[in-house]
Amino acid sequence: MEDSTASTHNTASTHNTASAGKGDVAIAARCKEIEVASPSRKYSVYVGNRCVDKISGIIPEDARQVVVVTQREIEIELDLGREYSTVFVSQGEEAKSVKSLERVCKSFVECGLTRRGVVIALGGGVVTDLAGFAASIYHRGVPCINVSTSLLGQVDAAIGGKTGINLEEGKNLIGTFSQPLGVICDISHLESLPQLEMLSGYGEIAKYALLGLGNLEKYSLEEQVAKCVYLKASIVSEDELEQTGKRAVLNYGHTLGHAIEACSLLGSSQTDMENQPIRHGVAVGIGLIFAGKLAHRLGRIDDARLARHYEVVRNYGLMESIPKEIEPDELVQFMANDKKSMFAKGDGLNFVLDGEKGVELVTGIDTKLVRGLLEEMYSR
Ligand code: GLY
Repeated sequence: MEDSTASTHNTASTHNTASAGKGDVAIAARCKEIEVASPSRKYSVYVGNRCVDKISGIIPEDARQVVVVTQREIEIELDLGREYSTVFVSQGEEAKSVKSLERVCKSFVECGLTRRGVVIALGGGVVTDLAGFAASIYHRGVPCINVSTSLLGQVDAAIGGKTGINLEEGKNLIGTFSQPLGVICDISHLESLPQLEMLSGYGEIAKYALLGLGNLEKYSLEEQVAKCVYLKASIVSEDELEQTGKRAVLNYGHTLGHAIEACSLLGSSQTDMENQPIRHGVAVGIGLIFAGKLAHRLGRIDDARLARHYEVVRNYGLMESIPKEIEPDELVQFMANDKKSMFAKGDGLNFVLDGEKGVELVTGIDTKLVRGLLEEMYSR
């Protein structure tokens, strides 16, 4: 589908964040600042209600141009206290195409963007992935700031510098590691997020709960986001380029999750609770149950730990069974073809699995065992 990237306009904003009233200052003071100390760049992630004001402190004072990349549907107007241009991209994964990337870059030219400017990605994962990638290659790299407006983006996609677009052959096959100048996770931006999008974010939060954050469910949404960001920031700081295996644990639940998501997008009848293709985080929820069952079958975790996987996934209202329309053979095929992991070796499949030493990458798992366990993942 065509997107409307080429449409750009200038918007002069006359408000200055420094003129915020007393109430605003109190709100801003509650905002949490979490540092990502990756080798290539140190930056802050701000988490809080109405913390979007923090953006004026992230934009370099001498930035010559500011270009906001967003979607028309987002309808959040940024108050930057200075003139900026806006570039719109379409909704959905189609926006992460080579064609769309070209349009965004052409729009940057129209806006007069140079390396002395800054890009602001205002949106969910699709926008931050696409805009972050375009910024990282345009004029050999323009700094980018992420203002994440989805729960999934706030706890995962906007943090850690992974940018990219899709090819027909697979998701995120072209991309860069390019850390942003800063990230804003304004919880108030989630107020109008559709239920299914929230659910998708909860799938990633469930992952963090099982990665060691424990009973996350008892905290407010804002605290949950902050705790997830803190864990992601510490992992990215240790293994920015996913070279040691530490960052790979962020893919917990994703091996089967990606396969379910891909099969659901390809098929016309595979649907989730609202008759739509299965969202990323919802698929990850099913993947977490599967990873728990597999670790249990391999003797890596006990009954109580497996039960905790079910409890977390259920507490977040996520799905725990594979939709019947998706064939187990399709899933195995997809997982076998997924050779993206640089840690892959041997003939079997690779999973991130829980165990005595915590969650870690396990390679060479017997395909027949996986196929058999998948059969148990369908509701009867
Ligand atoms: N979304 C996984 C990562 O950032 O590594």
